[in-house]
Amino acid sequence: MKRREFIKLGAVGTLISSVIPTTLLGSRDCDLTSPDILGPYWDENHPYRTILADIDEPGTRIFISGVITTNDCEIPISNAVVDVWHANDDGCYTVFQECDSGNPENDLYNLRGQMLTNENGEYAFETIWPGYYGSRPKHFHYKITTPDGLEHVTQCYFSGDPQINESWEQQHGDRIISLEESDEGLIGTFNVVMNEEGAEMSNNEIQSPVPENPYLKNNYPNPFNNSTQIEFGITQRGYVNISIYDINGKWIVNLADERMSSGTHLIKWKGTDSIGNSVPSGSYLIVLKTGSYTGSKKMVYLK
Ligand SMILES: [Fe+2]
Repeated sequence: MKRREFIKLGAVGTLISSVIPTTLLGSRDCDLTSPDILGPYWDENHPYRTILADIDEPGTRIFISGVITTNDCEIPISNAVVDVWHANDDGCYTVFQECDSGNPENDLYNLRGQMLTNENGEYAFETIWPGYYGSRPKHFHYKITTPDGLEHVTQCYFSGDPQINESWEQQHGDRIISLEESDEGLIGTFNVVMNEEGAEMSNNEIQSPVPENPYLKNNYPNPFNNSTQIEFGITQRGYVNISIYDINGKWIVNLADERMSSGTHLIKWKGTDSIGNSVPSGSYLIVLKTGSYTGSKKMVYLK
């Protein structure tokens, strides 16, 4: 079976496992993939598909695959929408420009498509290698949206492109991929690290059923003089802020300001402010804010 037919059948994993060296994910430094501009040629209605170019489309066939992961470079993000669009061999963008290219069925969205990552966070597509326009290096545009709604707009470039100079390389170096030649065309890998935390439990979380409603419990112990523990629950994964304020409403410290999984969480406060200084004895407020819920509790710190 040809590679093209694999993609048509949706066997994305088969293609990827033959393309990505398994050592790549485990050993690299973990940096977020840098963003790039959306540019003027994105359209919101790209069809879901993994072959973006008709077989008669002029240009060099190219097969791109990759993995979308969270910010530890390890936890794959499944069901992320990977939206890809690019210029044709002449540097022309369909939808926005009149492009003279192989497009027998008058497909308005030629060279554009969205796909979902599989359970391993993998995506793959086949198309033609984009042409040049203006002074820009060849590139694919990406707009990736995770199931949690985090969006990342970026582009990938190709090593050896004569349009890539030193300063360009400094700014876009993490997104310049190398291409291998094969009988069926060029093959490249573009992995994307999103600024999203994995759903795995961290140390301050305890595994628990999801509560019916969000809540914030009184801290324990209270009053306290060393450290105190605060329990709260959230009904769905999302951003959570827990801050401490003094009794006059002055902000003291954020105990959490991040995306968290649904369920019960425990967090500690040791009576210190945002720069680590011990606060005076007195009454303080814990304030929990999530997308849909705000709660507060009063506590007493005794030195
Ligand atoms: Fe572009």
